[in-house]
Amino acid sequence: MANDTGRTLIYASRKHNDGLLSFLGEQGWQVVPAKSASDVGRILNPGITSAALIDLASGYSDREMGAFESCMQPATVGWVAATNPEQLTTTSIRRLIRDYCFDYINVPCTNDQLAHAIGHAWGMASLSEVPVITPQVGGDQEMVGTCEAMQQLFRTIRKVANTDAPVFISGESGTGKELSAVAIHERSLRAKGPFVAINCGAIPPHLMQSELFGYERGAFTGANARKIGRVESANGGTLFLDEIGDLPIESQASLLRFLQQGAIERLGGHEVIPVNVRIISATHGDLEAAVKEGRFRMDLFHRLCVLRVDEPPLRARGQDIEILAHHVLQRFKGDNHRKIRGFTQCAVQAMYEYHWPGNVRELINRVRRAIVMADSRMISAKDLDLLPWVPTLVRTLEEIRAEAERTAIEQALLRHCHRLTDVAAELGISRITLYRLMCRYGLRGDESGVPA
Ligand SMILES: Nc1ncnc2c1ncn2[C@@H]1O[C@H](COP(=O)(O)OP(=O)(O)O)[C@@H](O)[C@H]1O
Ligand SMILES: [Mg+2]
Repeated sequence: MANDTGRTLIYASRKHNDGLLSFLGEQGWQVVPAKSASDVGRILNPGITSAALIDLASGYSDREMGAFESCMQPATVGWVAATNPEQLTTTSIRRLIRDYCFDYINVPCTNDQLAHAIGHAWGMASLSEVPVITPQVGGDQEMVGTCEAMQQLFRTIRKVANTDAPVFISGESGTGKELSAVAIHERSLRAKGPFVAINCGAIPPHLMQSELFGYERGAFTGANARKIGRVESANGGTLFLDEIGDLPIESQASLLRFLQQGAIERLGGHEVIPVNVRIISATHGDLEAAVKEGRFRMDLFHRLCVLRVDEPPLRARGQDIEILAHHVLQRFKGDNHRKIRGFTQCAVQAMYEYHWPGNVRELINRVRRAIVMADSRMISAKDLDLLPWVPTLVRTLEEIRAEAERTAIEQALLRHCHRLTDVAAELGISRITLYRLMCRYGLRGDESGVPA
């Protein structure tokens, strides 16, 4: 393994060790030296697998080690520590090694021993590399997923892309149904054809027919020109019927007719126009229940649901939550002039505890907002507005205090219908202090949606 070329190794040490660096270089490592945690933060790219050696024996202070902790989180970096045996009696060092390193080596040791451990750490870290499926043509969206449920989803996408049968995608809102539909289209033989999406829940029922099938000039008052419907404009490609559960019952009948005949008639027209599309439909609701309750035609359901894709909710994706958060951070970190490096340990823990009802869409929104709001270079649970989800054990006193303060102010604001003078009097603080705290906790009307 050690003779492969092009693998990056970060070497964090307070001292120079030219002998070791040239030895590791000869072994095929691209060694990047770093003196401090902030150097590591600058060099590190969590999107690429690398190995990292931290020379604890070179004497880092507790504060410096704390700073290292935050850049040792990405699972795509395999850390090895070099230590003095005496250091292993220090709690903070033991914890750093136990929580973030694949291995540690007591110095003095041979260069071969180090190289072996580093190769091993790189191999383990490479298992966490983010597999990415079909970047969107002309776009910059990728589908990130390493957990078993997502790997299964990727396998299903690849399989269904090879056929032309209708696909039905189910999953909670924000889980990536549309992204999967695009991925299927882009991997299918229709990839060069159009991908046309229609949100059946967003179009008023009386406009649905004309939206789907189009109309001829003069078909009804106001129809001044011919309009091509979405079905026809998807000819040769894929038609994505989003929120299909909201399709009005009369449109269900005409969609079924189209699926049976492979042809449409524009409203007010007499011509039968053959249309060749592949149908992908999706819903966040329970379509089987809608069928049972008579809100959705069973015959249409069976036509649409030939192949089925299930999107796992974000809370069931384990470590992908953290990987996605880093992915979003990399993509949007330019939104803050400060160089944001990562997430505090509390923030990461809170992300795992939270239940993510809005799934990936919500995670993207929270991380983007946190990037803009963050006052420090590490995004905290507070920046993500996830303080209540920080497990009590890992919360700092400051965070617990902040949360209690925020709750007390929030409740007093509600009790006094946002009359700041009364709120300040009840809490025994000045109006100015109250206002300052409200700003700090995002409780001002313009930020929280509450009238000020
Ligand atoms: N696995 C994923 N990796 C990266 N981004 C994702 C992933 N799944 C969803 N997204 C992003 O989350 C947002 C919501 O996805 P979308 O497909 O619109 O969800 P849905 O249609 O299920 O509501 C989009 O911005 C999408 O790019
Ligand atoms: Mg959607």
